[in-house]
Amino acid sequence: MDNSLDKIKQEVLSCQKCELGKTRINPVVGEGHLNSSILFIGEAPGANEDATGRPFCGKAGQVLDELLSVAGIERADVYIANILKCRPPKNRNPHSQEIQVCCEYLDKQIEVIKPKIICCLGNFAATYILTKYGFKDRVYGIGKIHGKIFFYRSPTIAVKIVPMYHPASVTYNINMMKILQKDFNMLKNIPR
Ligand code: URA
Repeated sequence: MDNSLDKIKQEVLSCQKCELGKTRINPVVGEGHLNSSILFIGEAPGANEDATGRPFCGKAGQVLDELLSVAGIERADVYIANILKCRPPKNRNPHSQEIQVCCEYLDKQIEVIKPKIICCLGNFAATYILTKYGFKDRVYGIGKIHGKIFFYRSPTIAVKIVPMYHPASVTYNINMMKILQKDFNMLKNIPR
């Protein structure tokens, strides 16, 4: 394993920076290809992820796998992480203080992976990433910004940010699948 990602993993495994460290079973650091050009960011681990330590391995994960195949993308070729590394009790929404302390790890993961595309799955990921890259004024809610591409460029990094609905939305409303399929189809045509 890459030394830097391994170091981040070790830090997360012993992290007690917020209350979630007391209730989690396993932190979910993230998994995938270290040099992936695409980074997917979800919200937080659910029960299955908490039990296994792997991201997107439950129902939402099945939907994500289906969407990746629509886009012709192999799961092993991308990196998948979350805004929070530990499961919030009863899958409640992440608190802003938790996001603030936990996203230090996500920031480090982004620095190591250097993705060309960051695909934000759901409102929490979209809000954090758009704000991080200076698009705070474009955070309108996922309904308005899904499927759009935000270009960020600095002397050291060029990244395309693509917000999407969260795959779990399909488990509440099957009609979301068509919208997500359309957005994932578009993803495969973005140069990386
Ligand atoms: N939902 C997420 O946002 N992340 C996971 O890892 C699983 C479900």
